Amino acid sequence: MKQILRSICVGTLACLTAACGGKIAETSDEAIETVFDNKDYHTLSKAEDVAAKHLSLDINVDFDTKKISGSATWQLERKNSKAKEIIFDTYDLEIDSVLLDNGEKVNFTLGEKDSFLGAPLQIPLNEQTQSCTIYYKTGANATALQWLEASQTFGKKHPFLYTQSQSIHARSWIPTQDGPGVRFTYDANVKVPAGLMALMSAENPQERSADGRYTFKMDIPIPAYLMALAVGDIDFKPIDNKTGVYAEPSILNKARAEFEDVGKMIAVAENLYGPYRWGRYDMLVLPSGFPIGGMENPKLTFCTPTILAGDKSLVNLIAHELAHSWSGNLVTNENWNDFWLNEGFTVYFERRIMEAMHGADYADMLWEIGYQDLEETIADLGADSEDTHLRLNLKGRNPDEGLTEIPYEKGGHLLRLIEQTVGRANMDTFLKSYFDEYAFKTINTRTFIEYINVHLLDANPEWKAAININEWLYAPGIPESCPRGNNKLLIQVDELTKEFVASGKISHAEATNWSTLEWMHFLRGLQKYPITNKEMAHLDNIYHITQRKNSEVAVLWYQLALKTAYEPAYKPMEDFLLVTGREKFLQPLYKAMVALPEGKTWAKKIYASARPNYHPLTRRWIDNIVLN
Ligand code: BES
Ligand code: ZN
Repeated sequence: MKQILRSICVGTLACLTAACGGKIAETSDEAIETVFDNKDYHTLSKAEDVAAKHLSLDINVDFDTKKISGSATWQLERKNSKAKEIIFDTYDLEIDSVLLDNGEKVNFTLGEKDSFLGAPLQIPLNEQTQSCTIYYKTGANATALQWLEASQTFGKKHPFLYTQSQSIHARSWIPTQDGPGVRFTYDANVKVPAGLMALMSAENPQERSADGRYTFKMDIPIPAYLMALAVGDIDFKPIDNKTGVYAEPSILNKARAEFEDVGKMIAVAENLYGPYRWGRYDMLVLPSGFPIGGMENPKLTFCTPTILAGDKSLVNLIAHELAHSWSGNLVTNENWNDFWLNEGFTVYFERRIMEAMHGADYADMLWEIGYQDLEETIADLGADSEDTHLRLNLKGRNPDEGLTEIPYEKGGHLLRLIEQTVGRANMDTFLKSYFDEYAFKTINTRTFIEYINVHLLDANPEWKAAININEWLYAPGIPESCPRGNNKLLIQVDELTKEFVASGKISHAEATNWSTLEWMHFLRGLQKYPITNKEMAHLDNIYHITQRKNSEVAVLWYQLALKTAYEPAYKPMEDFLLVTGREKFLQPLYKAMVALPEGKTWAKKIYASARPNYHPLTRRWIDNIVLN
């Protein structure tokens, strides 16, 4: 879902840049921190006064009305003895009643609704109150929920429901203190139509219950954005005694084969940065409407079926979600301005896992492809855009606007620079101690800088100067110090690309052995040249690219096909758009389509059929491209 978003410009950062003549990197830490505070502007709750520490959820999932209804009982902890109320975030929730300590009914207030923060639910407390129970129903616009018709699943027989709570959508299905800085444990009773399976970010069943009743327990405290639920025609297959796959029956074996190395990934990850602390690690493959690649729901990663390539070539996504079990789920960004602390660390960690599994050349290719993504995003946002700073300023904006390649790739590359500067052994010792020190805590950019200075950089001023961390955090664009790969495999691909562009021919043998990453690099490279319809046909004749099922390769091919009016790829592209909801693929294709003469009419026609299959939030993005 890493769309390249346009910023609704907020003044603060502009002032900072202006005041410093654009040389933010030279400003003192103190000056920077007077402009940025660490308050979470995306929750209306006040957990610093009264915190909700444990949730008992008792809900019914009704596919007919497309509503979740039931109760949320919260155990409270008073932090401020003068506090007279607890506040929860809600979005489009209908609150029926609220009881204190399972008895007294109280008059609650549902405050004014903000367009993306929702409405604060204020519950007055007595001095002795220890818990409150909220009876509620979800609304028609619950942003976390995607209700699929049977026709939108692989099996076509049963409906499906899943949640996507990050960043601030948990509040649309649970009244909760919805900020990443607030953690709680939970248990849940969930009732679903008999015969269907229910799963959560918790200890999960491996078999379906006869009556559709399930109980869940999560004793490790997590923030609300990691609350997750999925309901559908789902079966389980173990991989080893600690890992397994959940999916609809018709894709279960395929998924198990694709992910069979995940036990090894965990071993590699533990070897790098310490124990996996969440018990089991399972994966749930969702129907193809799932709007993103993956989501690191604790104990149970949610992922798109578009990574089931048949040859394990896209499983770095699993390495990524697994890595979040350290960076993100264990050590959590304090608010969404610090999102790079979740994603940048995870990108770095993901590539370290891939390197340990497949070697440095392979990981280097991932770095190079990531670097290209970063360049493209910066070109799109503008080289001076404040949204290209690592430390974001999302105050007053929807935090989903921070979801660009910046936190991912600029963040990942900063860590790579640190590694290359201090040496791998020092880096790994540092990161391991960082994960231990901040386990089950939250972290902000300021605390991170203090920690890295004390534990790594203060000892060596040359390192500190070479890294110049403030430039990465508070200045736009890509710093000159950014590491750049020199990957020999991709250089070979570049040479072949040039040869092909110059001669219209390609040497068969070499490309036949290319991995998915080399193909991606080749097809990306070709986008820069004015290649012709005839050349497309030539490539297709030799390599049968139109027939390929690898989603990453296919989408790049479709983009070229649109540019060159290569019609044989149109039908497969249309079929792809009709079933796939992964936004990262949809955006470039619809954009390329509407840019063609008559393209808008064509895009509208496909979109009219495809739209019901897309996630409500994805629909908003594509509406903007196709309908406006
Ligand atoms: N946590 C993210 C997904 C996310 C971030 C959802 C912010 C909503 C708001 C997840 O770990 C992720 O980064 N997924 C990527 C995959 C990846 C390999 C970079 C995706 O879905 O594309
Ligand atoms: Zn991630």
